[in-house]
Amino acid sequence: MIIAIASDHGGYQLKETVRKYLAGRGDVKVVDLGTNSEESVDYPIYGRACAEAVASGKADRGIVICGTGIGISIAANKVKGIRCGLCTSTEMAELTRKHNNANMLAMGGRTTDPELALEITRVFLDTEFEGGRHKRRTDLLDEM
Ligand code: RB5
Repeated sequence: MIIAIASDHGGYQLKETVRKYLAGRGDVKVVDLGTNSEESVDYPIYGRACAEAVASGKADRGIVICGTGIGISIAANKVKGIRCGLCTSTEMAELTRKHNNANMLAMGGRTTDPELALEITRVFLDTEFEGGRHKRRTDLLDEM
């Protein structure tokens, strides 16, 4: 599985933590789309770049991180074909995969503890979509 990852400056430290975790899993290839420091940048640019990598098929899933995860998830969800779930718990990560078939995960570098963020990432990657009634709903999302 190819995972694209991106952040703004507010998510940079957590992006590095998540990127190292992903590299250590051995079952995913990571494409890091920046940013590469804590110098101030604009989160819509990074959210869009990651979302376009997923929507175009260059990556199977995307992970985006800003200070709260809010702005960068809004940016990602503006790209057609993207279902980006902002998660602050492992339960949300599980349900955004099972029910929303989320192809992107957003987290907050200033709001989510790094250890919890790695658990959220693990659950997001290892949980399958349930399909069934949820497929009808994600099809409605994809029509928008
Ligand atoms: C940047 O200061 C901050 O606004 C950004 O990282 C994010 O939290 C926006 O939603």
